[in-house]
Amino acid sequence: MESEFWHNCWQQQRIGFHQQDIHPLLPIVFSQLNWQPSGAIFAPLCGKSLDLWWLSQHSKVIGAELSALACQQFYQDQAQSFAVSTQGQFQRFSHPAVDIWQGDYFDLKQEQLGDIGLIYDRAAFIALPLQMRIDYVKQLKYLCPGPVSLLLLSLEYPQEEMSGPPFSVTECAVRQLFDFAASVELLAIRNLTGRPFAQRQFKVSHLIEKAFWICW
Ligand SMILES: C[S@@+](CC[C@H](N)C(=O)[O-])C[C@H]1O[C@@H](n2cnc3c(N)ncnc32)[C@H](O)[C@@H]1O
Repeated sequence: MESEFWHNCWQQQRIGFHQQDIHPLLPIVFSQLNWQPSGAIFAPLCGKSLDLWWLSQHSKVIGAELSALACQQFYQDQAQSFAVSTQGQFQRFSHPAVDIWQGDYFDLKQEQLGDIGLIYDRAAFIALPLQMRIDYVKQLKYLCPGPVSLLLLSLEYPQEEMSGPPFSVTECAVRQLFDFAASVELLAIRNLTGRPFAQRQFKVSHLIEKAFWICW
């Protein structure tokens, strides 16, 4: 998806992907995994997700987001004050718990993130069409050389029944794209058929969300 598409979504507040609450799998998965913080938590294409505030209990969170509006709303919705500075092609939104690099994820450099122990991807990977998804994973590997763990929430539905985003990505495609990883574990499956996906209701014959724990 082109940058303009996302800027328009935020300007017109067409943000049906945004969840009004934290993702229900987050507390469950975290209690099962017993993940110990090592380094910061990176949330690519983070929008104004409340999940970032939840994750910040565990470690400092660093988001990356294209839209300045999304970044402002992220803090303002929670009445949190923040600082903004311009750093090259990016604006850095700073807060003690969550910082956000506002700009193009594909232009981020390793040194902007520092040491990342966990990546959290909800509706980032699946927001991108195939070629961009390949580039997204390549960039993730460059930004987070490891050791790192990725909690990836993916979505499966018959792609011919709806055009993305979100796009359908099969488990097989996830495993293929992360074939460089030391392990790809399927942690949980949620059957969302007939149920809303965040604020949107899709007319598809099945809709399955899968949570993967990927380490490299
Ligand atoms: C489907 S939304 C998901 C947002 C968030 N992860 C959530 O769960 O609500 C995708 C987000 O990625 C952002 N985005 C798209 N392309 C981007 C890019 N190249 N760099 C940074 N952010 C991008 C969009 O502005 C949008 O907020």
